[in-house]
Amino acid sequence: MRHLISPLDFSVEELDKLLSLAKDISENPKKYSKCCEGKKLATLFYEPSTRTRLSFEAAMLNLGGSVLGFSSADSSSAAKGESVSDTIRVISCYADICAMRHPKEGAPMVAASKSGIPVINAGDGGHQHPTQTLTDLLTIKALKGKLGNMTIGLCGDLKFGRTVHSLIHSLVRYENIKFVLISPKELRVPDYIKEDVLDEHGVEYKEVENLEDVMGELDILYMTRVQRERFFNEDDYIRMKDFYILDTAKMQLAKDDMLVLHPLPRVNEISVDVDDDPRAAYFKQAQYGVYVRMALIMTLLEVSLDEQ
Ligand code: CP
Repeated sequence: MRHLISPLDFSVEELDKLLSLAKDISENPKKYSKCCEGKKLATLFYEPSTRTRLSFEAAMLNLGGSVLGFSSADSSSAAKGESVSDTIRVISCYADICAMRHPKEGAPMVAASKSGIPVINAGDGGHQHPTQTLTDLLTIKALKGKLGNMTIGLCGDLKFGRTVHSLIHSLVRYENIKFVLISPKELRVPDYIKEDVLDEHGVEYKEVENLEDVMGELDILYMTRVQRERFFNEDDYIRMKDFYILDTAKMQLAKDDMLVLHPLPRVNEISVDVDDDPRAAYFKQAQYGVYVRMALIMTLLEVSLDEQ
């Protein structure tokens, strides 16, 4: 039985296979509509979510399966003090696979160690968000036709933004990736990622504060929200929340084929005027999230078209 806890749980070859399956699903969705008949997905969300939870549910429904779950810790027995370990042992009796989001880093890994069903990390604290990374990779591959030979700007809250951490872990495995890390100094990528991931893989990167200065260098601009829920001090959040606002004037400095990605939700960091720019890919990205989660569910449940 396999789980997805970290973006590194799949090798590059396995990722290629999963992304190819997701591409085929996007082109032929009807072909897959009965693949998971009789299977159940549990969504165990101890933290708020729109995209991840609902795209997982849409993915399982699109595959002919069904869904159950909870959308907040308050509406589960966590509110009475039940541990994640006990919860997953019980959910293993009710469902065939589960997606878990939790504010505590490592909670889905603990769950996986006690689980009788595959566990998917749907975001753990400020740590990792591997299915967002699958979504990001599918979006880049579909729209750029490649995953290597690119300069990628990561902008905003690079300290607490788990989507950024997972994306860096994954992209360093591809050829000739360069990163431009754009953040205020208080929200820089944690040292452990710079040392253990970027330096370890010999990946070229630079840290800057000014977005305009580097716009023209980027093939991908990955914007992120300042993660209010992870700040200890509201004043710090207020000081940094509008540090970056991508607007149409800044977009004029970018390459004609640069893509703007954002895991969403957006707060103020991308002006709504940018939505009409053909380079704005963040709503397409949300759609790709359904296809890649369909491919992931099929992969972890080891179901294929041949079994229908
Ligand atoms: N991208 C993402 O994780 O969005 P949600 O928080 O809405 O799930």
